[in-house]
Amino acid sequence: LPYFAAALVFGYLLGSIPFGLILTRLAGLGDVRKIGSGNIGATNVLRTGNKALAAATLLLDALKGTAAVLVAGFWGLDTAIIAGFGAFMGHLFPVWLRFRGGKGVATYVGVLLGLVPIGVVIFAVVWLSTAAITRYSSLAGLITAIVVPVALFFLGHIQVAELFTVMSAITFFKHRANIARLLSGEESRIGDKS
Ligand code: G3P
Repeated sequence: LPYFAAALVFGYLLGSIPFGLILTRLAGLGDVRKIGSGNIGATNVLRTGNKALAAATLLLDALKGTAAVLVAGFWGLDTAIIAGFGAFMGHLFPVWLRFRGGKGVATYVGVLLGLVPIGVVIFAVVWLSTAAITRYSSLAGLITAIVVPVALFFLGHIQVAELFTVMSAITFFKHRANIARLLSGEESRIGDKS
């Protein structure tokens, strides 16, 4: 139990580093929460017009999830899963930002990379094809969040599939404003400004 608690706290602290906010501030672009969707994730960083910064945000928000899983994985799969969940929750609900964090897609794929690397291929194919067809980042993330847990079950990674089912449900909750915009046709597309 102390290992589980330590893994959860460790993952949470790593996950709660808001790279999108930090990078845009360092680049002198101001507060990313005041533009576009107000989110701190890579999609909204892209709305500043800086593609490299958006890519760096995606990479770092993902890799903090991977790092949490790999370090905690030293004590076994259960601990790795708990640390991955902690990182995901840290990204979505960081104490430093009064629990107003990101929507979870980047950290989701980072945790997946640490636990079931082949899952990232499925993630990438579904996300990229949905994004290419619709140009909605949010919709791509949501469809991917349905496919990934199902694929994990079929691949036999039951425990990891359970984790991703929970994370997908939380991601859907965090996308509720996006879902409303998608339904009303007001969601912004990748490449649109604000
Ligand atoms: O991954 C985040 C994306 O799904 C939605 O971001 O900024 O359009 O709300 P945003």
